[in-house]
Amino acid sequence: MKPVLEIEDLSTHFFTEHGEVKAVDRVSLSINEGETVCIVGESGCGKSVTAMSIMGLVEEPAGKVVGGVIRFEGDNLLKLSKNEQRTIRGNDISIIFQEPMSSLNPVLTIGQQLMEPLMEHLKLSRKEAHLRAIELIEMVDIPRPEQIAGCYPHELSGGMLQRIMIAIAISCNPRLLIADEPTTALDVTIQAQILDKLAQIKSDSNMSILLITHDLGVVAEMADHVVVMYSGKVVETGGVVELFEKPLHPYTQGLLRSKPVINQRQEQLYSIPGQVPNPLELNEQSCYFYERCEHRKAICNTKQPLLQEEPGNQKVACWLYGKAGEAS
Ligand SMILES: Nc1ncnc2c1ncn2[C@@H]1O[C@H](COP(=O)(O)OP(=O)(O)OP(=O)(O)O)[C@@H](O)[C@H]1O
Ligand SMILES: [Mg+2]
Repeated sequence: MKPVLEIEDLSTHFFTEHGEVKAVDRVSLSINEGETVCIVGESGCGKSVTAMSIMGLVEEPAGKVVGGVIRFEGDNLLKLSKNEQRTIRGNDISIIFQEPMSSLNPVLTIGQQLMEPLMEHLKLSRKEAHLRAIELIEMVDIPRPEQIAGCYPHELSGGMLQRIMIAIAISCNPRLLIADEPTTALDVTIQAQILDKLAQIKSDSNMSILLITHDLGVVAEMADHVVVMYSGKVVETGGVVELFEKPLHPYTQGLLRSKPVINQRQEQLYSIPGQVPNPLELNEQSCYFYERCEHRKAICNTKQPLLQEEPGNQKVACWLYGKAGEAS
């Protein structure tokens, strides 16, 4: 399968008055054509900053992508001119956030907001864009599309707005859709409908999806491949079946222990004792999960384990396995 997006050693840091936060620390991941990859992990582990880095949304000087490669269909986005980056990020990669209201313009109608990217990126005429906007509203299963096109965001429910966000995100036929907690703010039934819609659009178009969630039920249902993050680092990756059947990292094991049943969502995820370390006080001589780990050994507090390949196409960064950290 062909990779659409390949991230290698991506590091994104923020420079705060209290010190430097390594929000994303040498993260590598890859998404193949037509594949859904889920990033999962506790609040603050760097999921959104990874997405923002791909989209070029990290604002300097507060934050900066300080290293790595973000290769989209072969081109390193970080090496392209601003204009070239904008074209790719407008046409080929799009993003949906958790809060649709914050992405929509309150003073423009839904129709206008759907038409804008169609005219700008696909160069459709006003009339063509209008027709396409109506089709897109239909595509996300909203009845009376003509009427909805004339509505302002505040006139629609949260679930409808999130459908509109999906319609906008897919309007230019992106190769990659990034969805950052797209259903967290919605109730469970609507959540299921939206995820089904995403899955259907994906299978109809062979688009790839990078889905960010803290809900392992969503992961079980949507993912082909899973990336588990902890404190800015990838601690485990693998196929969804392998990872759910045989989680290797004690952190992944902890996540799954609080979520024993596949294909069933739940609100409350974590029962792992302790807390994520303060990002300003990370001990780089130690595994970041050390303090919370049931299986910790002396070595875990002296050297950070590196991500390494394990049988079954899984990768794990943990001293319990193979030759972790040898090359660091
Ligand atoms: N603008 C910013 N300035 C300073 N630090 C930031 C900024 N944005 C993010 N961070 C820090 O980067 C780290 C990663 O944040 P991120 O938003 O990626 O977490 P997340 O995994 O998406 O969490 P959540 O599940 O809560 O959305 C956190 O420690 C956060 O405080
Ligand atoms: Mg986030």
